[in-house]
Amino acid sequence: MSVTGGVPAVAPTVPDQTLDLRPLLLAEFEPVLEPLADAGPGVRQVLVASASKYESTREIAQAIAAELTGRGLEVTETDVDEDSNLVMDSFDAFVLGSAVYAGQWLQPARWFVQRHEPVLAAKPVWLFSSGPLGPPATWEEPVDVAGIAEATKAREHRVFAGRLELERLTAADRAVAAALRAPEGDFRDWTAIRSWAGHIADALTGGGPQTMVQTDIVPN
Ligand SMILES: Cc1cc2nc3c(=O)[nH]c(=O)nc-3n(C[C@H](O)[C@H](O)[C@H](O)COP(=O)(O)O)c2cc1C
Repeated sequence: MSVTGGVPAVAPTVPDQTLDLRPLLLAEFEPVLEPLADAGPGVRQVLVASASKYESTREIAQAIAAELTGRGLEVTETDVDEDSNLVMDSFDAFVLGSAVYAGQWLQPARWFVQRHEPVLAAKPVWLFSSGPLGPPATWEEPVDVAGIAEATKAREHRVFAGRLELERLTAADRAVAAALRAPEGDFRDWTAIRSWAGHIADALTGGGPQTMVQTDIVPN
């Protein structure tokens, strides 16, 4: 197991303005209802790979990896750029995520999907995006992952709220955030993140309901 980095043990303080953050369920593509077709005996190897510009998405990936590890799965957690030594065929399932900028996954995450499309399309894949800030919602359509979902034949795509700390941003990113009046703060919902990882573990271990609901969270 190679989960790296620190995941906050306690959810960070959330500004008052986020207390109304509620999940809005949006169907984006057909949920997969059947049990994991290729499930068999033995510990399942899972790759959790993410792209992050200011680390907040990486920390979500690490939280997911920690949850999966706690459920008895063998997890490798990595940045999408650090895949050169990975034997992709050795993994039974993949959790891929990216921070969202200008409505898209970061380029390294899109390249990762391109590089590994054949193996990803052949194995169970779960996708997550991290971005929306607020309320109020800063982006009407937080992210478009339709092409990635199609290429990977993903079972599910989940959108998690993100974090914006102006002091961490480049001048260019700070200017965009200011122009959009994006609210500063840490909006990540660790309970929702761990719960989603638990659903993935259920699907991979047969430890819970095999049906999964297609959900995207966006702030309202
Ligand atoms: C310049 C800029 C553009 C952004 N564009 C989007 C966007 O289109 N959709 C969205 O949901 N979030 C957007 N965000 C919010 C980020 O996705 C959010 O802050 C995320 O948590 C950053 O993750 P990271 O720390 O892993 O880079 C944007 C943030 C910045 C600074």
